[in-house]
Order: sequence, then structure tokens, then C-alpha cells
Amino acid sequence: MKYPKEYLDEIKSRLKVSNVVSKYIQLKKRGKEFIGLSPFKNEKTPSFTVNDEKGFFHCFSTSEHGNIFDFLMKTQNLKFGEAVKTLALQAGMRPYTFSKADEEREKAWKEYAGIYSDYINFFHNELLNNPDANKSLNYLKNRKLSLETIKNFKIGYVRKNLSLFGNLENKFGKKAVKECGIFYFDEKKNTYIDRFRDRVIFPINSISGSPIAIGGRIMEKNSFFAKYINSPETQFFKKGNNLYNIDKARILSNKLNQIFLVEGYMDVIGLNNNGISNCVANLGTALTEKQIKILNQFFDEIVICFDGDESGYKAAVRAAENSVRELQPEKQISFLFLPEDEDPDTFISKNGKEKFLKYYETNKILIHEFIFENLKKQSNNSPTSLAILEKKLRFLSNSIKDQYIKKYILDFFLGKISQLTPNLSKGKQFAIKHVAALSETKKIYNESISITKEQLQEFSILYLIINNFNFFKNNSNLLNDLSFITVDGKEVLSKLTKIINSNHEINLDMLPIEKSMLEKINKFASVKHISKNIQRDENKLEEIFYEMKKDLKNLFLDKQILELESRFSKDMDQSTLDEIIELKKLQNNN
Ligand code: CTP
Ligand code: MN
Repeated sequence: MKYPKEYLDEIKSRLKVSNVVSKYIQLKKRGKEFIGLSPFKNEKTPSFTVNDEKGFFHCFSTSEHGNIFDFLMKTQNLKFGEAVKTLALQAGMRPYTFSKADEEREKAWKEYAGIYSDYINFFHNELLNNPDANKSLNYLKNRKLSLETIKNFKIGYVRKNLSLFGNLENKFGKKAVKECGIFYFDEKKNTYIDRFRDRVIFPINSISGSPIAIGGRIMEKNSFFAKYINSPETQFFKKGNNLYNIDKARILSNKLNQIFLVEGYMDVIGLNNNGISNCVANLGTALTEKQIKILNQFFDEIVICFDGDESGYKAAVRAAENSVRELQPEKQISFLFLPEDEDPDTFISKNGKEKFLKYYETNKILIHEFIFENLKKQSNNSPTSLAILEKKLRFLSNSIKDQYIKKYILDFFLGKISQLTPNLSKGKQFAIKHVAALSETKKIYNESISITKEQLQEFSILYLIINNFNFFKNNSNLLNDLSFITVDGKEVLSKLTKIINSNHEINLDMLPIEKSMLEKINKFASVKHISKNIQRDENKLEEIFYEMKKDLKNLFLDKQILELESRFSKDMDQSTLDEIIELKKLQNNN
């Protein structure tokens, strides 16, 4: 349950951090702060600081940082609620009682999870032990599932003529059972019917492992009943926020980098049955951003592996367009298309784990490649069609939240388009010849890793200057307070400033700058794509230039602060600390 901010603030305002901390650690006053030995590390020289004014502790050797609640949670291994209780007591405040609504929700949740858990356990047991369930056990065995897999996923079978409604009602109350989604009301018969009767059932768990919904499959082909049905959405089960098997898969993220995202229950179960446990399913619905975010939290590579049929392909297209915006550096999304009419379950059951992994290695395609290939298929080489293609690709790139990735993906797309239109791409935007677009995000990303943030920012600024010489000649004051960080950057900047301040004609082809440097500027200036659109708008240009100057200054301050912090962790000198605080102030004002 969530504590109101006012209550937490009240605790914080009553307790100094140094009071809380000094119950556990010996602190010494130093200037405005306190210092002591880090509770997070064995150390001889103190690197742990407490600042009462700001309400924070900071450990320079481990970078642990936080307020009084964090301190208790991290050092005493308490849950948030326990930390709040402990500190409220210490502050002389009454323990917080939650509002009626909170309490009701908590109660409803306990009943809800209790109902699902009882129901699932009961019918899992039935499947394993009741001879009446033999038909379904055989069905699963025919689908090659081992007993271990059946147990692992707590698969069950709901008998036709046995309703748990009454038992559950006695234990959890009528309201809760009515609302849990397992039963629906039949007006004609005036009674509650079990929607999963005569179905094999698959429990769906929340990310922390509590059962919150169920999927049920009929065993015989039947055009009258839907093959699968699922619990309806309830206040505790929202389809788009959840993934089948995420509770078990997430634990594997310590060991494995990638996660297979498949369509169905049986795909997850079939893969598990064959030794691939890092998989989840979105259960046949459209993939949501939220689901991608959940997976990104745990895994570096998401492999979307939908069925090898038309609907699987369409789902993949939609998934690609929805998830591309969530791309992040060091995270990858790729697609795996199975042979016609196979799904992950049938493929792995036929071919086994090794062949599946081999197939994955040779056939996976990165998300941006897939997006391009798919859109290209829909266009021909006519100018209008290419224009539409470019527009769509620009639109998709623009939706990407991460600025680095946005730039590289756009670069990739534009490069691909220029290969389709070799006669068009000779436009003279830049003083040197077009540097071939790189063919793969990963590759270009790796290259950029060796380039520092400071360099990237400087490249952008230089790019802007080189491409707008006349503007900067007329507004040379803009360059006055510009200072670069890197040696190479400084050198180029000083050359350019000299040219700008001289009265000579500028010849872009004869800039006294090394070609390799120009190439780097051209390749890595992230401002490149924006600047094309603002060339004739001087106000915009000035605005962007100003922003970039500011960012560079912040990077410079960041760097200085980092150096000072590492010095401080050694010398613990008050003047170093003062310097850090000064720089942080500057940074806030910038
Ligand atoms: N689905 C559904 N309702 C349907 C069909 C499918 O909710 N009528 C969902 C289910 O979550 C199912 C997923 O979409 O697991 C994928 O459907 P499909 O590919 O048809 O099923 P499979 O996973 O291949 O199941 P099976 O192998 O048991 O046929
Ligand atoms: Mn299947």
C-alpha cells in the first residue's frame, strides 16, 4: 500500500539523517556534513557522507545514495513499509493506518489471489490424480509434455460436472467469487457457471508469482467453442501489463541475456519442455510498450518469435512498430520467423533444442532491418512510393525515445533509402563526400562506444558551425563563450574561429582540418538530421546552438565533479567537498 507523501515528509522533517544513521554508524562532523565508514563496504578511510540539509546520505566508494528510508532498507534489509514503521516510531508519530479504500483493496486482493490459488491447485491435483481426468492427461502426453513440465506449469483439468463455486463462496464470500472472473452468470439457468469447465487450464501468474488469471483450452477440434478462453480483465489482471511465464523467466535473467517472446501458452510450455526456459508469451494480443519495458528491465535481447503464418507475420509487424520506440542502447530487439505453418511449439517438438537455437542464430533479424524490409516490400521504385517509404521511416525513427538510438536508426534507414535512389543522394550538404551509412545499429553503436559523450557533443557543435559558416560569421559573438573539452575538438574549434574572424572567403573544400576528423564529425554529429530542417531558420539555429553549448558545459561540469568525488573519497578534504558543492550549484543554474 502506498503511504501518502505528506506522512513520509513529516517523518523526514522530524528526523535528521545524521540521527538515524548514527544509531548504526559512528559519524564525525566535517563542515556542514558528517562522515563515517561506509556500511556498504569494508574500508579504513571513511567515504560515507551525510548531509542533513539535503536529507541524503551518499557513499563515495559504492555510489549508494538515498534518504532515511533507503538507509534502513539498504543497511537493515527492511521492506519499505517496515522502514516507515520503524522511523515513524522513532519520530514519535503514530503508525499510519491506511484509508478504508486501501484496506478494502488489500482484502479484495487477498481473496482474489486466494480463490485463484485454490482453484488452480485443486484442478491441477485432479489432472494428476483423478482417473476421470485421464483424457486430458493423455492429451497433454500426446503433445509430448513431460510430467515434470505439467507440474512446473501447474496445468490442470476442470471437470465438466464439478463446480467449486460453493466451496469457494464459503471460504472467500460470494462477492469475491462472483467478481474473480472464473464464473459467469447464466440467466436462463439462474446460476453461476464455471467458464473453464471441460478445459485444460493454464494458470497465469503475476510477475511476483501469484496466480491472477487462467487460460483454458478445449481438447478436441470444435468449431462451436473457442479454442482458448481466458479470464476476463479484472482489477488485478490487465492483459497488456502482464506476460505469461514472466515470473519464472525473470529469475533466469541473472544467467541469460535473451528472452524469447512467443504468442501462446503452448509455445512457452513446449519450449520449456525442450530445455528453453527463457520465454514468455503475450497470449495472442497486441504487444504493448509496457510489456517491452518489463522485458527490457531484465533482459538485453528480446527475440520476438511469432507463428510462421500470416497472422503471426502481421502481429510481428505491429509488434515491431510498437516496440521500436522503446529501443535503448545495449538493448536489442530482434525477430525470428519460423518456417511456414510452424509455431515455436511445433518447431521445437519436431526438431529439438539444438536445431531451434541454430535456426535462431542463422535466421534472426534485427528490428530495424525487419521494419525496413517489410516497408520496402510494400513500395516500388516510383518517386511517390519512395517518398511515402521515407516518410514512414522518418516517422518511426522519430518515435524512438532514446536519442542515440534515434540517430542511428534514422541513419540506417536513410542509408538504405539512398541505396535505392543512387541518383538522388549526391546532394551537397556537407563539405566532404557522403560517408557511407553503416549497415547495422550494433556496429555503429559499438563504434560510438569508443567515442565519449564530450566528443559527440563537440562533433555536433562543429557540424553546425561548418554547415552554417555565414551565419556564424554574422554572429561570431555566439562563439565567444564556447569552450571545448577534448584536445582535438579544441584544435578544430580554434581553427574555425580564426577563419570566421578573418575576412577571407571560406572554401569548404579547403578547410585546414584533417579529413579523418571531418569524417568523424560527419558521422557522429547527432544534430545532423535536425539541422537539415532548420537551415533557413536562423532563430531555430541559434536556439539549438545555445542548447548544445549548455549541454556541453554540463558535461564538462559532470566530468569535473566526478574527478573531485574520486579525489574526495581519498583525501576527505573539506575544501574538495566545498568545490563539489560549488560545481553542483553551477550545474543547477546552468
Ligand atoms: N488465443 C486465444 N483465443 C483463441 C485462439 C488463441 O486467446 N481462440 C490466444 C491464446 O493465448 C493462445 C495464443 O492466442 O495461446 C496463440 O494462439 P494459437 O497460435 O492459435 O494457439 P497455440 O498457442 O498454437 O495453441 P495450440 O498449440 O494449443 O493450438
Ligand atoms: Mn501451437
